Amino acid sequence: MDISEVSDSLFGAFAGIHALALPRTVVSPPFDGLLGVFYTKLVSMSPQDPAWFVAHADSAPGDVLDLCCGGGRTAVAFAAAGHRVTGVDLSPVQISAAEKRAAEHGVADSTTWLTADVVGLRLGRTFDTVVIGGLSLTLFDGPRRTALLEVVRRHLAPGGRVLLDHTPAQEDEPATEQNITLPLALGARRGFVLLGARRQPTHGVQLTNMYAEIIDADGRTERHLTGFRFRVDSSDGLVRELAGHGLVVRERHRDLQAPESAAPTPFPARELVVASA
Ligand SMILES: C[S@@+](CC[C@H](N)C(=O)[O-])C[C@H]1O[C@@H](n2cnc3c(N)ncnc32)[C@H](O)[C@@H]1O
Repeated sequence: MDISEVSDSLFGAFAGIHALALPRTVVSPPFDGLLGVFYTKLVSMSPQDPAWFVAHADSAPGDVLDLCCGGGRTAVAFAAAGHRVTGVDLSPVQISAAEKRAAEHGVADSTTWLTADVVGLRLGRTFDTVVIGGLSLTLFDGPRRTALLEVVRRHLAPGGRVLLDHTPAQEDEPATEQNITLPLALGARRGFVLLGARRQPTHGVQLTNMYAEIIDADGRTERHLTGFRFRVDSSDGLVRELAGHGLVVRERHRDLQAPESAAPTPFPARELVVASA
């Protein structure tokens, strides 16, 4: 994602802050830099996702491809359950977090990490399970999304499963906007992150923005700003789209987020989809 796409996805107060062009403001791609580190920490506090994905793969140890693997929370859970995992992500920040996580969990030997664009990926082999989790599929639209679904199909072994999630539009769902503020601590530095989501189901889009201020021991403030766009599909629309790529939806599960989740997020309920060829 280039920086112009980031600025195009800013809304409300986030767009206002961007327009101020304050000193020491870093506008970065969404899963990179300081906000990438923050994102990885935030989602790793949500332990339900990896468990769900692992539970819906074949229980026999096999080969797993995690596309847009981020900091490796799902890939490492698969490796800990005995699978051999290849994780692919565009962001070096995310891949180094994934490598660290694999080492910490003692699964470095059964994991392979690639820093690459998943669009157009050709690994020349197939996998028993192909995962696109953490709403990653919904980051893609248009020809890149079509190309990504071709990548999924190309890497799926006969009889294999595809596991993915999205936040489907509900019938008559109104547009919403939510903002939450979360504390941020990185070493001696302290600050906050303002996390916002503007969801417009009738337009099929959710904008997610993050703004951080972090103050070092000398009182200097650094600002970080990012934003991205999720595509919001209907549940049936996604089923039809996958069918167009030869993928048949076998199961759909709603509402992954457990009420006791330690990670508050302004994201609506998710649907988790199991498909196969
Ligand atoms: C919403 S995060 C989800 C990460 C991870 N799957 C999880 O559940 O924690 C999306 C990830 O997709 C990665 N990503 C976005 N576009 C990509 C692309 N074209 N190729 C590879 N990775 C990409 C980002 O770097 C980020 O780590």
